[in-house]
Amino acid sequence: MKLITDMYQTLLTGLENGIFTITINRPDKLNALNKTVLDELDQAMQTVYEDNKIRAAIITGQGGKAFVAGADIAEFIGINDEDGPMLAGKGQQIFFKIENCPKPVVAAVNGFALGGGCELAMACHFRLASDNAKFGQPEVNLGLIPGYGGTQRLTMLVGKGKAMELMMSGNMIDAVEAKELGLINHVTTAESLLEKTKEILNVILSKSPTAVSKVIQAVNAFYDFDKNGFNEEIKLFGEVFSSADKKEGTTAFIEKRKPVFKGN
Ligand code: COA
Repeated sequence: MKLITDMYQTLLTGLENGIFTITINRPDKLNALNKTVLDELDQAMQTVYEDNKIRAAIITGQGGKAFVAGADIAEFIGINDEDGPMLAGKGQQIFFKIENCPKPVVAAVNGFALGGGCELAMACHFRLASDNAKFGQPEVNLGLIPGYGGTQRLTMLVGKGKAMELMMSGNMIDAVEAKELGLINHVTTAESLLEKTKEILNVILSKSPTAVSKVIQAVNAFYDFDKNGFNEEIKLFGEVFSSADKKEGTTAFIEKRKPVFKGN
C-alpha cells in the first residue's frame, strides 16, 4: 500500500487498488477525536470525494487497542459553556460528509469504539469489527449526551429500546452483541479485519460505481425526514436507467460476459 503520511499530523492514509485507508493515529490517547483529528478527517473525506483514483474508503484506528475511544475529553475542559452547539454541529457536519459520500466508506473497528468513536463508525455506510472491539455511548458518565449524531444513528441501527438502554446506562457491548443488534455486519479476528473489509469492498468495486452511489443516496433518503424515500428511489432509478453502466450491465448479461463498468 502506498502510504501518504506527511500530509496529516493525526492520520495515516494509504491508497491501494482504489481503496483509500484512513487510519486515525493517536494511539497513546486511544485515537480520541480532538480538533485536529476532526479537521483532518474532514480534509481526508474531501480527498475521497474529489480524487478519481479513490473508489472506496476504510476508516480504522492505529494500534491494537482502539478504533476511537471518543471525543477528546481533555478538550471539553476550558471550552466555553456556550460552545456546545458549535462543537456538536461541526462534528455532525463531518459525519454527514462521510454518510453522504458517493463512494463506499466502511468502518473497520479494531478495538474501543466509544462515544464519538461509535458515532464515527455509525456514520460509515457499514461496519466490520474485530473480536476485541467494544462499542458504547458512555457520555452520561461525563454528564453529557452523544452530540455527533449518535442519538439518531444508534436508534436507526439498533431500534429505540436498545438505543435508549445503551445511551442511558453508558454500558459497553462486545462485537458479538453488536452484530446481534445489527450495529455491525461481520466479526473477524484482529489480524483478518482489514483483509475481510477489503474483500467485501472488492466485490462492491466490481459493480457499477454509478449504481453503487445511487444505492447510498436512496438508502440514506429513508433516514432523511425532508425526503420521501420511495419517491427518491423512483428518481434515482430513473437516473441509473439512462446510464452507460446500465446499458453495459444489461448488454453483458444478455451476451453472457462480464460487464466492464466505467462509472457513467
Ligand atoms: N479523550 C481523551 N483521552 C482519552 C480518551 C478520550 N475519550 N480515552 C482515552 N484517553 C486517554 C487516557 O486519558 C490515557 O491517556 P494518558 O496515558 O495520557 O493518561 C490514554 O488514552 C489511555 O487510556 P486509559 O484510560 O489509560 O486506558 P484503559 O485501558 O485504562 O481504559 C477506556 C480504556 C477506553 C475504558 C478508557 O480510556 C475510557 O473510558 N475512555 C473514555 C471513553 C469515553 O468516555 N468516551 C466518550 C467521550 S465523550
